[in-house]
Amino acid sequence: MQIDIIAGTRPNLVKVAPLISAINRNSREDLLHYRFVYTGQHYDKKLSTCFFHDLNIPEPDINLDVGSGSHAVQTAQIMIGYEAALSKSKPDLSIVVGDVNSTLACALAARKCNVEVAHIEAGIRSGDLSMPEETNRIATDSISNWFYTTGEIANRNLIKSGTNSNQIVTVGNIMIDSLIGKIDEFVQPDCWAPLGLTDRSFFLLTLHRPENVDSPKTLHRLLSAIDKNVDGKPVLFPVHPRTRPILNALDLNLNNIQLFEPFRYLEFMHLVSQSCAVITDSGGLSEETTFLKTPCITLRSSTERPETVDLGTNILVGNDTSELAIHLKHAANGNWKQSKVPPLWDGNTAQRIVEHLTEHCTISTKLDRSA
Ligand code: UD1
Repeated sequence: MQIDIIAGTRPNLVKVAPLISAINRNSREDLLHYRFVYTGQHYDKKLSTCFFHDLNIPEPDINLDVGSGSHAVQTAQIMIGYEAALSKSKPDLSIVVGDVNSTLACALAARKCNVEVAHIEAGIRSGDLSMPEETNRIATDSISNWFYTTGEIANRNLIKSGTNSNQIVTVGNIMIDSLIGKIDEFVQPDCWAPLGLTDRSFFLLTLHRPENVDSPKTLHRLLSAIDKNVDGKPVLFPVHPRTRPILNALDLNLNNIQLFEPFRYLEFMHLVSQSCAVITDSGGLSEETTFLKTPCITLRSSTERPETVDLGTNILVGNDTSELAIHLKHAANGNWKQSKVPPLWDGNTAQRIVEHLTEHCTISTKLDRSA
């Protein structure tokens, strides 16, 4: 079976890395062959090359090099680029991950070329259609053939939207495969010693959602509230390139928040594992903190990953700065809810996907022979 594995952004890379290595491990059976397609939606070294390196991801077989653009431009350019790749050589299956523009664009291009699509992280829903990712999730799931899900909540969402249960495969959380695979290689970033950081002595902040960073007023309000309520602890803020220009234009007088370039995966995960809390608007990060038992304060009012709230360490505060202040104080004092790691977040998700693919292509081969 010939497979295309698609990635386009930093979080996509964390999800495809374990799949690529699981296929390579199983390659002796010679059933699965892959071509790795990178769309280039993220192109900054700190968001792409560094992640390829830390996660041992091979050079892409095809790089579409699309870069940034409005949603329509970016999605269209990825579709054009991937359709051209498909017209030269068509796989049996395209595997897309997550919910970014690259996910939807490649799923659409593949289906229109009559290539089957498998979606990893299918079925998750925030219910908030103002987020571009929610549109990408719904649209991708509406045209996929195979749905690899993190758990029962995603399965229920898919069934509710009319998906046939035979096409749903519960595999667990593939991001956690990367985390477990690399946990012994986490490294202190260069700023660790100069800042005198020790375990649980600092906060870690990430912000990149349009609703939090695109308006200078909102960004100013959130950063001022964080800076004021962290009990004098340092707050390490690696700044996403989307956030940087808005931040540069702000007149901020910060005492505790310190700005950084984005960290490499192995450094960033070290900080996540050792911080007294992560403050973020990322969904993936709320899963990583749940696994690592690090308190997580999410600056969103909805989540497509409710298990991180119900079982995990995540608390949603929306953009309510008084709620934020309360939870920052709790975290600074080491006072947080008990949590559990959801089922199947065990580092074996990619292997389960490979087993399903192998089984699927064995059945297809038998059918071909008997035809
Ligand atoms: C994208 C995903 C988001 C994901 C995030 C992870 C969509 C709709 N959004 O958001 O779901 O959580 O990635 O980081 O797909 N930029 C650079 N260099 C880069 C990439 C982006 O400078 O390498 C800047 C550009 O100004 C660009 C802006 O960031 O216009 C936004 O980039 P884009 O890829 O459109 O979305 P993200 O905000 O990164």
